Amino acid sequence: MQTKDLLFELSASSPVSGEELAEGFGVSRNAIWKHIEKLRDEGFEIESNGDGYRLVDVPEYGGLAIEYHLGESMWEIEYYDEADSTNAVAEEEARDDAPEGTVVVAEKQTAGRGRREREWSSPPGGVWMSLVLRPTMPPRDASVITLIAAVAVARALETVGAEPSIKWPNDVMIGDRKVCGILTEMQADAERIDYAVVGIGLNANIEPPIEKSTSLRNEIGDVNRASLVASILAEFDELYDAPHDEILEEWRSRSSTVGREVRVEMPNETVEGEAVGVDSTGALRVKTAEGERVVTVGDCEHLR
Ligand code: BTN
Repeated sequence: MQTKDLLFELSASSPVSGEELAEGFGVSRNAIWKHIEKLRDEGFEIESNGDGYRLVDVPEYGGLAIEYHLGESMWEIEYYDEADSTNAVAEEEARDDAPEGTVVVAEKQTAGRGRREREWSSPPGGVWMSLVLRPTMPPRDASVITLIAAVAVARALETVGAEPSIKWPNDVMIGDRKVCGILTEMQADAERIDYAVVGIGLNANIEPPIEKSTSLRNEIGDVNRASLVASILAEFDELYDAPHDEILEEWRSRSSTVGREVRVEMPNETVEGEAVGVDSTGALRVKTAEGERVVTVGDCEHLR
């Protein structure tokens, strides 16, 4: 048995005696006691009296706290107090055959990675996590994974009372400030994706880390991160099985970019014009003075 199995049992039926638990899991009472102590060490408050064990309080964050809010799911949480970059850790594990559904979460990152080789500030209090996926879709469809992540974050943020939108290609915004960035890194050949690592960096219970960014603390106040992470993962799971045109449709309806005047800085040139749509691969269609351009990568600025 795993500690999380005991946790699920305690949250479903409390109080429950050590004897009943031992019998149910087919282990000794001493083994149950050790798992109870592990939960207490992680900040769970568990009362024990004549009737048995009772779960009284769940910590705000941590691997088991996320599992508690998730319940039975496809996700397996690996929690670290500190990591260089959860994407780097997840990639290493993916290369080592980590199964789909592994989620690396860290309280802080010392070398957080942003898009286009930028640094990503990751102090304690944020949500820094990376999902290991082994998608069966052809590599040409892989951009949908990042769209799914953005939609999942946006849906979850709505449940805590924020009003998010998505700025192309994959920034989750509140108003015109970025609250969350997504970095997808992939290993694939022409025919198949070996793994994809989806990194999600959400400025949660921190001050806005850089100019033009915001945080949940700044917008709606501090949130319960374990519950928020669980809701992002549950939304991701649901979208992961959805038809791609439905995902794209929802992405479009949440987009704050389509219909705006934009400037997109690409690696070698800058395109300016009206964002008129997003094609089935997630590329942005921009109507410029010289005609329509389809932009696949770049930094997008909303001008008006
Ligand atoms: C961006 O530049 O907008 C993408 C930022 C992605 C940051 C997240 S934090 C968790 C994961 N680990 C990393 O090193 N980066 C991603």
